[in-house]
Amino acid sequence: MPSNLVVQPVADGVRLLTLHRPQALNALNTELLAELAAELDSAERDEHTRVVVITGNRKAFAAGADINEMAERDLVGILNDPRVAHWQRIGNFSKPLIAAVNGFALGGGCELVMCADIVIAGSDARFGQPEINLGIMPGAGGTQRLLRLVGKPLAMQMVLSGEAIDAQRALRAGLISEITQPELAVERALQVARAIAGKAPLAVRLAKEALLKAQDTDLASGLRFERHAFTLLAGTQDRDEGIRAFQEKRPAQFQGS
Ligand code: CAA
Repeated sequence: MPSNLVVQPVADGVRLLTLHRPQALNALNTELLAELAAELDSAERDEHTRVVVITGNRKAFAAGADINEMAERDLVGILNDPRVAHWQRIGNFSKPLIAAVNGFALGGGCELVMCADIVIAGSDARFGQPEINLGIMPGAGGTQRLLRLVGKPLAMQMVLSGEAIDAQRALRAGLISEITQPELAVERALQVARAIAGKAPLAVRLAKEALLKAQDTDLASGLRFERHAFTLLAGTQDRDEGIRAFQEKRPAQFQGS
């Protein structure tokens, strides 16, 4: 069966996944979501994969859920939708996930962007939740994650009007972390990914978990979690190596222990 996802071999601790349904602007059908979820599961288990980068092509990161597939689903089909489980697996990925975005990131495409921890976008990228134009609403995080990221007024405007925003506006709103020239988005994402892949894996993992806690817990609980995680890292060999390397004025060699 032809694949909708191009998987590059892991290099320097980084796995690059490219959404590949160009004929449908990378619309996320069940098959593609299943492949993506399975690849992230495999990356989760693979000790050589430290960071995953997801990208699309120059015209589209992903133009949303596959509308033709949606047209075939009735209410029962939607209640039993296998895509819900795929989205959960994607959203729960515990290693750093970077999105390199060019072109359209709409509907499920924008929701996939919001599952990423870091978003590097080409200046031509456009982000939107146009589901309202189809008589529906976002169903894979497009109300919950968007509001947490960009705040109420802009989230309301995007979801209720269906209007997309450009990369500059997305940067100002906090939806993305950096803008590049379109042709450099993937390279820059890989550069950031390689930098993270060279850090101590346990520290990266716990730092990601602590940062995510800040989104959905009160400050006192978040600070408690941060302190526990910080204390846990004090018992690692990588902490000793990091400090020793600094004192010896050489690059640290982290082992993940
Ligand atoms: N599903 C299925 N096919 C899609 C698609 C989608 N989401 N988006 C684009 N395509 C297909 C088009 O049907 C077209 O196919 P044909 O060549 O066979 O006609 C091909 O991709 C190219 O698209 P266009 O000709 O429309 O390209 P364009 O440059 O004129 O327009 C666009 C680009 C504005 C993104 C337009 O394609 C569009 O509006 N797409 C739909 C976007 C959308 O509504 N996304 C939300 C989906 S619902 C969702 O995502 C729910 C959820 O949260 C889980």
